[in-house]
Amino acid sequence: IGVARRLKTASRRVLPPAGPTLREAAWKESETNPTKLSAPPQTLRNMSIALLFSKRSTRTRVSAETAAQLLGGQAIFLGKDDVQLGVNESARDTARILSGMCQGIFARVGDHSEIEELAKYAEVPVINALSSLWHPTQVLADLQTLMEEKSLQEEADPAPNPYSIPYSSSSSTENASQTPAPETSEASSEQQQTEAGASEKPSNAAAAQHRVARARRRLRPLTIAYVGDSANVLHDMLVTYPRLGHKLQVASPPDPRYRAPTAVWDKVVELGCDKDIEWTADPREAVKGADVVFTDTWISMGQEAEYEQRVKDFQGYQVTEELCEAAKESWKFMHCLPRKSHEVDDEVFYGPRSLVFREADNRKWTIMALFHLMFGGSSFKALPHGR
Ligand code: CP
Ligand code: NVA
Repeated sequence: IGVARRLKTASRRVLPPAGPTLREAAWKESETNPTKLSAPPQTLRNMSIALLFSKRSTRTRVSAETAAQLLGGQAIFLGKDDVQLGVNESARDTARILSGMCQGIFARVGDHSEIEELAKYAEVPVINALSSLWHPTQVLADLQTLMEEKSLQEEADPAPNPYSIPYSSSSSTENASQTPAPETSEASSEQQQTEAGASEKPSNAAAAQHRVARARRRLRPLTIAYVGDSANVLHDMLVTYPRLGHKLQVASPPDPRYRAPTAVWDKVVELGCDKDIEWTADPREAVKGADVVFTDTWISMGQEAEYEQRVKDFQGYQVTEELCEAAKESWKFMHCLPRKSHEVDDEVFYGPRSLVFREADNRKWTIMALFHLMFGGSSFKALPHGR
């Protein structure tokens, strides 16, 4: 017991929240000059992240494990047959137990209420790795992929260095969002900051506004089509792209079960996104003028029993060159994967329009950023230390 007590004390010295010094040092290092990082900041040093997955995963799991490793931490994969959750133990108790041993939880669940239950009782940050309603980490990778695609960028893209734009007061943030800042060197950026008298940190709201403005500048206003089932991946698209100035055109079969459920649509309306979304049962209508066409599987994990019914109901919704002839000539194709040939044929999926493998790669970098910010970053400070 004496040895255990000494180990506990020693570990707490390096573990957040008891000993945030190391983490803060790594964080500062990464913030000071983020564009010149020679190696990933070790913001997850001494940390363990629980990957609590009740469903299969290739991309999300491997991204999380490799990202945690690159940030100096470790991810522990806990599949549905590995832990007591759901058989001998409640989500409430599991959340408390994992909070005592790990510094973050990345959870893939069935019903969305399960992630809410985990978040309610966990004492460390919980990130949704996919639920019945949402797949928020997917839309981050999709956005990065769109931004990397030259043909979708603003023609006169000022390619602003995200870190070169000075933060000052909220009014100067508004100005910045209207007038793109030119690419600046680090030195001139510092000068701008001094001139603006903006040495203090931006408020969260100002920083969020800033990020939106930056994302808007990078991409030209796009027409984004989605053809298929209204599932988790689409739901995050509905609450993301309109806020970044893009229009969504969605086609799904007329049966209400293939349309966004009330919980999702209420959020879409609350965020004012509904004005920029057109929903039709006609896939040809949805792809008209589209810059990008997205789809997802017709049979999401957990819907296997509906396989035959769904394949029947979605006839006519397969993404093909012929279906998309009214899209822009240069249209691109995206899909979260895994893919079945029901929803997109090989010609499109493996063809030159397809961005799907870059999209899959970007899962890793966006999940890494999220782990750095949420688990290794300052968000921890806001949480109760309820151990
Ligand atoms: N796109 C995605 O979430 O893939 P996995 O199910 O393989 O993680
Ligand atoms: N809609 C799919 C997404 C897989 C990443 C599913 O939930 O299975």
